[in-house]
Amino acid sequence: MRIIVCEDYEAVSKKAAQMILSQITLKPNSILGLATGSTPVGMYKNLIQMNKEKVIDFSEVKTFNLDEYYNLPRTNNQSYYYFMHENLFNYININPANIDIPNGMTENIEAECDRYDATIKEAGGIDIQVLGIGNNAHIGFNEPTVNFEKGTHLVQLDESTIEANARFFNNKDEVPKNALTMGVGSIFKSKKIMLIACGEAKAEAIYNTVYGKVVPEVPASILQFHNDIVLILDKEAAKLLNKEDYKTA
Ligand code: PGA
Repeated sequence: MRIIVCEDYEAVSKKAAQMILSQITLKPNSILGLATGSTPVGMYKNLIQMNKEKVIDFSEVKTFNLDEYYNLPRTNNQSYYYFMHENLFNYININPANIDIPNGMTENIEAECDRYDATIKEAGGIDIQVLGIGNNAHIGFNEPTVNFEKGTHLVQLDESTIEANARFFNNKDEVPKNALTMGVGSIFKSKKIMLIACGEAKAEAIYNTVYGKVVPEVPASILQFHNDIVLILDKEAAKLLNKEDYKTA
């Protein structure tokens, strides 16, 4: 596990965008695994700017998102489909046919999960997966539980996740209770993983991810076994880590 600690959110966002730039420069038809949430917004802003300045070209890039709320229409401004278009896709030169997000409005959950896993496989697998992390150490919507789920599946959201995400809705009751998410196995198959986290609320989850036992109760702990993972953190998220375990940027 490589760990890079940056001064603040701006620096984390810039560093993360530079990693995506390096990936796409090396492989213009890269398959990106993308994440939603507040954390990657700054990285997306940097990527939009780089695209505007023609430093980065998304024309051959394909993307798969980690997750989507179940039973929330794509037109709802809290759907992850909406989020991704609003925060990235509408402002870059990506081919809309190359964008894939689990369909949370599916009438056949199993078929949609199978389709998603098969499409990622057919595309050749994810080259770099961007991850945020929940305060409870969830990745995607893989909540703390008693086993690691492999493929894309329907989950029930944790009470703590519903509370954390209530800030985006009018009230807690409006937060969907379920979501479709890539499994820990799908995430783990990515050739590279880049996890970004900022703020003190993430410090304990980061500590457990780096030093804790690899257990499904701490979903991100499985990342200890991945052989190409980088954590990009701000000082607050890294505050419980030993200084000799990370590089500063
Ligand atoms: P956040 O969410 O970036 O909004 O903190 C991260 C997550 O829940 O995975």
